[in-house]
Amino acid sequence: MSTISIESVTKRFPNGFEALKGINTEIAAGSFTVILGPSGAGKSTLLRLMNGLETPTGGSVSIAGETLGKANLRKVRVHVAMVFQQFNLVERLSVATNVLTGRLAQRSWFGSVFYLFRNEDMDITREALARVGLTDKAWSRADKLSGGQQQRVGIARALAQRPKVILADEPVASLDPVSSEEIMGLLREICDRDGITIVVNLHQVDLAKRFADRIIGMNSGRVVFDGASAELSPQALRTIYQREGIEHDNSLDLALAYA
Ligand SMILES: Nc1ncnc2c1ncn2[C@@H]1O[C@H](COP(=O)(O)OP(=O)(O)O)[C@@H](O)[C@H]1O
Ligand SMILES: [Mg+2]
Repeated sequence: MSTISIESVTKRFPNGFEALKGINTEIAAGSFTVILGPSGAGKSTLLRLMNGLETPTGGSVSIAGETLGKANLRKVRVHVAMVFQQFNLVERLSVATNVLTGRLAQRSWFGSVFYLFRNEDMDITREALARVGLTDKAWSRADKLSGGQQQRVGIARALAQRPKVILADEPVASLDPVSSEEIMGLLREICDRDGITIVVNLHQVDLAKRFADRIIGMNSGRVVFDGASAELSPQALRTIYQREGIEHDNSLDLALAYA
């Protein structure tokens, strides 16, 4: 069964730049996929299309059998949570309040505007904080936490939404190596234990290989590799990280060093 279906998707921005040049892919329910590629490959654009933050110029995106369009955007988004590189927390609010905002996607406009939460929402928040190991920080201000802890709050907020899918755009790009490991491990555990479909954008080859079931390699708006982590050969990495007109590229050296 596939949760996310991308059919002939193209994306041309108003300035004429074509960031996605025909993407076809299916992402299976409960799988852990990493989208790997150099900066500018189109990873973020593709992820943003999966929750309707961007609309395709051509083709279609379906989540759990529903094709994304203006009319059902809100309904579909309930099932799709986002985790961001810069965490996107409300810094002066408590950790628990930040996690509670994950419930807003499930609420009416009125409830959202007035921050009306139910007891059920508090229980879900408590549970989400326990899952990410931050029970004792519930009433700390979000900006008092370390980067790794802030990203855990971001993940707890995603969990509180009770999503089918979590999309994470470079979730460890702002973190040190130890915290990066922890965050990737946490996402992996959420995939395995809760059966939530996880899609992570990364540029670190080593993390992709260790945590993903499947790697989709992108370059210049196209899928240039699609396979299991074990199939990511040095040749495949060359294809993913090659740059037109550039003979020698540091990002390729870096990628190969981890291969
Ligand atoms: N709003 C926009 N208008 C024009 N070009 C954009 C816009 N957003 C992204 N791009 C361009 O599209 C390409 C892909 O961007 P992005 O999806 O952010 O790549 P990645 O996440 O892989 O680094 C880049 O060349 C970027 O400059
Ligand atoms: Mg990006």
